[in-house]
Order: sequence, then C-alpha cells, then structure tokens
Amino acid sequence: MGGWHTQHALNSDVVELAGIYDINPERGALAESRGIKSYPSFEAVLEDRTVDLLTIATPNECHKPLAIQALEAGKNVISEKPVTLSCDDLQQMIDASVRTGKLFTVHQNRRWDVDFLAMKKLYDSGELGKIVSIESRIHGSRGIPSDWRGEKEHGGGMLYDWGIHLIDQIMQIVREPVVSVYCRFEHTTNMEVDDGFKLTLGFEGGTEAYIEVGTINFIPMPRFYMRGMKGTAKIEDWREPCHVVLCTHWHESEVIPVQTAAGLTKTMAPRDEVTTKSYDMERPQSDVHDFYRNVVRAIDGIEPQLVDHVTMMRVLRVIEASFSSAEQGQVLTVRI
Ligand SMILES: NC(=O)c1ccc[n+]([C@@H]2O[C@H](COP(=O)([O-])OP(=O)(O)OC[C@H]3O[C@@H](n4cnc5c(N)ncnc54)[C@H](O)[C@@H]3O)[C@@H](O)[C@H]2O)c1
Repeated sequence: MGGWHTQHALNSDVVELAGIYDINPERGALAESRGIKSYPSFEAVLEDRTVDLLTIATPNECHKPLAIQALEAGKNVISEKPVTLSCDDLQQMIDASVRTGKLFTVHQNRRWDVDFLAMKKLYDSGELGKIVSIESRIHGSRGIPSDWRGEKEHGGGMLYDWGIHLIDQIMQIVREPVVSVYCRFEHTTNMEVDDGFKLTLGFEGGTEAYIEVGTINFIPMPRFYMRGMKGTAKIEDWREPCHVVLCTHWHESEVIPVQTAAGLTKTMAPRDEVTTKSYDMERPQSDVHDFYRNVVRAIDGIEPQLVDHVTMMRVLRVIEASFSSAEQGQVLTVRI
C-alpha cells in the first residue's frame, strides 16, 4: 500500500512526494531506482523540515508508535487502516494529535467506492421506505494472505483487514447509534486469526446490518443487498450497477403460485412487473483523490477532516465489541 500512496502522491494535485522510508532496505533501493528519495531512517524523515505530512503504511501494530512519534515531531499524519488495534491505543493517538495540534486521520479510502456510494445515496433518498436490513459482503477464494495478516501479533485477521472498511461504510450509511453486536469468526485456513467473520449490528432505529467477509467462497454472494418496506436493492459485485425493485402495488389481485417439488406456494412466488417497477441506478461519480484533497484543506483549516476522530473511535469500538462477542459467543448490548 506504500507503493499506492507513493504513486498517488506523484500524481496528486495537492501534495508533492518528498520521499519514502521503509525498514526493509530493498524497498528503499527500489524507490531510489525509480528516482524517489529514500530516507535512511524514520528519524531522518522526522528531521526533514520540508515534510508536512506523513502516511504510515506498515503492518497494523506499528501504526500507533510511528504515528505518535511523527505527531510529536510536528508532522501531520495519515495512518493506514486499521488505525490501530484497540480503543485505548487510539485514544493515545488522538491525545497526541490534540496535544500537538497536528492533523491525524485514517485512510478509509473505501468511502469512495461506487458500490458503497450507490447504497448510501439510495438509503438517504428514502426511496426504499424504512430500511429493514443491509447486507454487505466481501468474498474471496484464496484464504487469508500468508504474510503478517495471518499473525495475531501484527494485528492480522479479516476483521481488522476488510472488516474495518465494511463497518465504517455501514456506519456512514446508517447514522444512528449501534445498540447490539454479534460476531462469529471463521478459522478455515488459519487458526491464529479470523480468516472470515459474520457480524450483525443492530441500530437504534431497528435497522439491522449484516457484514460478512469470507476467504473460501468460490461463488461469491452479492456485494450489497438492502431491503426496505417499499423495495429492495442489490449490487451483485463491485463492477455491477445497483439494481432496484420498487413495490408499486402492495396488494395483488392475482398471484400465480409457484410449483416446487413438495407443492405449491403463493407466499414465496416472485412478484410480476404489474406490481413492481425496477431499474438500474446510474453509477455515482467518485474520485478517491478527494481523500488527500480533504486532508490538505483540513490542514489549511479550510474544511473539517472527513474521517474524523469520533468516527474513527466508533468504528474501533465496534471492532472491540465484535472481538468480545466472538469470544463470549453472545450478543452484546452496546451504545456506540
Ligand atoms: N486502505 C486500503 O485499501 C489498504 C489496502 C492494503 C493495505 N492497507 C493497509 O496498509 C498497511 C500496509 O499493508 P501492505 O499490504 O502494504 O503490507 P506490506 O507487508 O506489503 O508492506 C508493509 C511495508 O512496511 C514495511 N515496514 C514494516 N515495519 C516498518 C517500520 N517500522 N517502519 C517502516 N517500514 C516498515 C515493510 O518492510 C513493508 O515494506 C496495513 O496497515 C494494511 O492494513 C490498506
């Protein structure tokens, strides 16, 4: 991901790349071979007065010490996700940001995913009526990567990896307190950390969110599925548009039963075109560069930072509650 940020900075209209530092000298040499300055140490980056902003893209357990050190050295800091591994750690990072007056945020780049933006737009429009449930899934078929992501000491596991994105997205869609958390982990290819999970969040207004990450799914389930009292929306996968079916006539005069092996059903017979209307939503416009644009404007005091400390803490509190729920095998009553 460091490579992504480097490339991003090189193409950016708001930042200039000063250089990179990686603990592995081979990465530094690779950067140099591409004409990018490689600092000899982290301290050398901090000592460079021309550096205003630092992006940390190391394994997860390093984010906290590096971020605090950088903030204390007077740098603004973007941490990769997950921002850190516990709420206590995050509070220390936030305290350092407040103490030093330097910006501190986390790279929740999936707030710019068009599938998420389509779901959020539809939710906000109220077109589906009261939302009963939202399901958000990411399904892979290659297990968990065999690097540090498979090791607990580095903050591995899919809840920290993909979970943090999906929880952040759902909390951006449903802007209500989370009142219940139930999580179950999968250990199909890795016993040390979760290589998949199923998480159910209850929101104060009654909406239920179901978040699922799997790494042995050879047939993926839909990316998003949202049900409201007046309609249903589905995004099959992130390349597909959002398909919406609206119920135009709740009462049907004629329902044609469906023949199943064991008999007929009217209750579960699909709706016809007379009582529903369907369409594909236009794909929302999105530019992930807006994350850095916002960070720079926030540093300049022109606008508030989009990924703020309150939402960062709420997401991590849900992560912590998910770990507790999985450990206890229970639904937790919370207020987050
Ligand atoms: N936002 C996203 O879409 C996204 C995508 C992928 C990864 N990430 C996040 O980015 C971070 C890095 O993930 P990755 O896939 O690039 O991992 P990676 O293992 O490919 O790269 C990590 C790099 O950090 C270096 N490193 C380790 N400790 C260091 C230290 N103390 N100081 C300097 N460099 C150090 C390693 O040598 C390595 O080059 C993780 O937090 C991950 O969750 C975010």
